[in-house]
Amino acid sequence: METKKYYITTPLYYINADPHIGHAYTTLAADILARHLRAQGRQVHFLTGTDEHGANIEKIAREKKVGPQAWADTIAARFAAMWELLDIRYDDFIRTTQPRHEEAVKLVFENLLEQGDIYKGSYEGLYCYPCENYWEEKDLKPGNLCPVHGKPLQSVKEDTYFFRLSKYENALLNYFEGHPEFLLPKNRSQEIINFVKDGLQDVSVSRSKVAWGIPIRSDPSHTIYVWFEALLNYATAVGYGERLAHSSEDKAAMRALTGGLDMDRYWPADYHLMGKEIYRFHAVIWPAMLLALGLPLPRRVFAHGWWTVNGEKMSKSRGNFVDPAGMAAKYGVDALRYFLFREVPFGGDGDFSVASFRQRYNSDLANDLGNLLNRITNMSVKYLGGTVPEPAQDSAMPAQIAETDSAYNAHMQRLEFDMALNRVWALISGMNRLIDREQPWAKAKTEPEKLPAIFGDLAAGMLAVSGWLAPFMPGTAEKIRASLRGPDGKIQVCPPLFPRLADEAAGPAK
Ligand code: MSP
Repeated sequence: METKKYYITTPLYYINADPHIGHAYTTLAADILARHLRAQGRQVHFLTGTDEHGANIEKIAREKKVGPQAWADTIAARFAAMWELLDIRYDDFIRTTQPRHEEAVKLVFENLLEQGDIYKGSYEGLYCYPCENYWEEKDLKPGNLCPVHGKPLQSVKEDTYFFRLSKYENALLNYFEGHPEFLLPKNRSQEIINFVKDGLQDVSVSRSKVAWGIPIRSDPSHTIYVWFEALLNYATAVGYGERLAHSSEDKAAMRALTGGLDMDRYWPADYHLMGKEIYRFHAVIWPAMLLALGLPLPRRVFAHGWWTVNGEKMSKSRGNFVDPAGMAAKYGVDALRYFLFREVPFGGDGDFSVASFRQRYNSDLANDLGNLLNRITNMSVKYLGGTVPEPAQDSAMPAQIAETDSAYNAHMQRLEFDMALNRVWALISGMNRLIDREQPWAKAKTEPEKLPAIFGDLAAGMLAVSGWLAPFMPGTAEKIRASLRGPDGKIQVCPPLFPRLADEAAGPAK
């Protein structure tokens, strides 16, 4: 039997705005994890995509005077282009307007109706249009404002279909208890457990007033609520549609749409990654949907924190979205990828400012890493003609590399990206100190026979560094490797990886 792939997902991003640094953050995290696992020989399936239905999208398309599908096509293409620019290698990009998704969602809805997990009723409640969600009074911000957007809510009444979430309260709590690795990071788990313990209410999963959505097969006057539908993407992207179809005709049609993927090779997902504001959807509603569908639950749902910009929330009204393309154009893709994961522990909140970015660039990348490579390659070429010596017999380097490697791997497995990088930088600093201490430029004159051992250590350490950096800074890692092993097998000098940035004292930090 073919092995199961390690299946990693990001949220499906709304297409109401261009991709910004927040979207890039999650997608980069998935890319870093995926690259790390692939380097370890694992088979990975990395899914991202766009969430394209709903009243918000309908409204924006109307404002832009284009059809919603045309709008969706434009923005989905911008997301894909951004991921390419940021060196993100995903395996699949799902759009919720694709037939493989829409057709499977329709079947899911009918199945759940039939088994009684979805039923028709009517709903009266406080609705947030930007969230496309009803809120309960207990969750509101003071002044009865939406807890996410801080805006007033509308009182809405409509006929709607409900998903029987309340039925799964105990099953969810049991699952959480039996699977301590499910809710991650651990400091976010209690909030979810408390939320479920407080009691779950059935949730509305259809909209009669939203035309831009997937119609319910047996009642086309309603469309399926965007969140309910979008969560299903994690399954519909990996061949769920074919499994749902009953008749052989339907099966053949779904097979054509899903490309004949064998869902068992993908499901359950190993990691759902997302921001903390949509954790409940992934940690409560989605697992309950899976229980209703009789599918195994994902292995881990991980919610990271939020980036602010210069201490403020990113928002349309402030117009302070950080454009990843602009940062990459000015400082390089790898510097951006590095900063986001070194600056802030993955899981916590962080603040983005150009000043802290430039500070890290100069200290970590230009000084520590860039200089080290420069020193090693320049002196190897100058004193040893670029030959790559072996580390000395009694060298401490192999043990240091092995130790760093095991700490790095343990951190990567727990998505402690900043700590993994800290370990790498500890070795980088150690190598810079080794050079300061050994003073190869002096030894070249007095004891040149000692140089091969020193540069053997340094070359071995640097080669290991390039391996550890590869998931974070793929282009840089490749340059380091190429400079340590040129086309003729010799060490070559390469141009500075990260030219030092001049002080920007004259201009305001943007
Ligand atoms: N469409 C839903 C998700 C459906 S998943 C089945 C959605 N889309 S979104 O476009 O609003 O994207 C939200 C996600 O973008 C967050 O969960 C997070 O991954 C990322 N971020 C958006 N802004 C962010 C920050 N300011 N900081 C960090 N990540 C943020 O919600």
